[in-house]
Amino acid sequence: MVDIKHSNILELYELRDHAFSGGGEKRIELQHQRGKLTARERLLLLLDDGSFEVIASRKVGRGEMEGGKKSHPGDGVITGHGAINGREVFVFSQDFTVVGGSLGEGHSQKICKVMDLALQVGSPIIGINDSGGARIQEGVDALAAYGEIFHRNVYASGVIPQISCIMGPCAGGAVYSPSMTDFVFMVEQTSHMFVTGPNVVKTVIHKDISAEELGGAEVHASKSGVAQFIYPNDILCLRGVRQLINYLPSNSKQKAPLLDLNDPPERTDPTLDYLVPPNPNQSYDMNVLIYSILDGAEFLEIESLFANNIICGFGRLGGCLLYTSDAADDLA
Ligand code: HXC
Repeated sequence: MVDIKHSNILELYELRDHAFSGGGEKRIELQHQRGKLTARERLLLLLDDGSFEVIASRKVGRGEMEGGKKSHPGDGVITGHGAINGREVFVFSQDFTVVGGSLGEGHSQKICKVMDLALQVGSPIIGINDSGGARIQEGVDALAAYGEIFHRNVYASGVIPQISCIMGPCAGGAVYSPSMTDFVFMVEQTSHMFVTGPNVVKTVIHKDISAEELGGAEVHASKSGVAQFIYPNDILCLRGVRQLINYLPSNSKQKAPLLDLNDPPERTDPTLDYLVPPNPNQSYDMNVLIYSILDGAEFLEIESLFANNIICGFGRLGGCLLYTSDAADDLA
């Protein structure tokens, strides 16, 4: 009896390992050569050590359910939950080494499951996107599967934080959901968001355009305003997500977490006496003002490359969260 249970557990571990193994060594090597981490490596970096619990690792895709020969471990996405600085978050990480991280029915059901759980528990949902879009082989069902995700994006909006990390190509349906979420992180050079790629643009409107010009991090951070944060590599990007989570409440019913940075409210800073010039036509560096006032000179700027005539971001006063649009009122 004990042996049977034992073998079941071992079998479960084997199945989990299979789901985590992605598209095999060659494709993982290619992923690394492109300067990208794998879906699993990203989750392990994002979450507190040892906190990740996988959900629905045994889910298979349409091809396998219909007796197809090709194996798509985990159907191209790893889903689960874990912690960031001890706070619960739900996550999904698309695996480009498995059918290009494309989204089929099973893949979507896994994402929807963690989105539903995040809403029930009242915790942030973080999606790591690296996907060729709707899985062509599944036809219109793949499009409907996207609809299920969009529907949940709308219901979760304003209730729990929704965060998207674009960490590879995100084409077609793969860009609609992230752009509806609250915060979009991108990685320079390796991440692209576009409804359709440069080849289709060339065919349809005869225009030569590179992937970077069409939907690279720089474009979305400075022109479209879709990306709030850009980072030079996967590691710094995931660290940025952890930083952001520290400022956010887990849901709309909770307050943002307090963090005492040992910066007394009565502290004064003499540079402020001279910072604002008496002549209102003369400019001054508003960053100096912000960093000087905020607790521990800690400030997380959002959209630093977009609409450069305003600085927005998160900081704390007396340990409490302060969003800069409130700062103007508080300081007045
Ligand atoms: C099925 C896909 C796929 C997809 C990639 N793959 N995208 N399989 N459906 N959408 C597979 C490739 O066939 C390949 O498999 C493997 O993933 C890696 O892809 P490559 O092309 O070798 O990688 P790369 O050169 O890096 O190019 C990545 C890419 C490109 C830019 C994402 O694959 C691409 O353009 N894909 C199609 C993008 C697209 O048109 N998506 C829109 C779908 S329609 P093998 O086995 O050959 O290695 C859509 C509408 C949604 O999304 C509407 C929602 C309402």
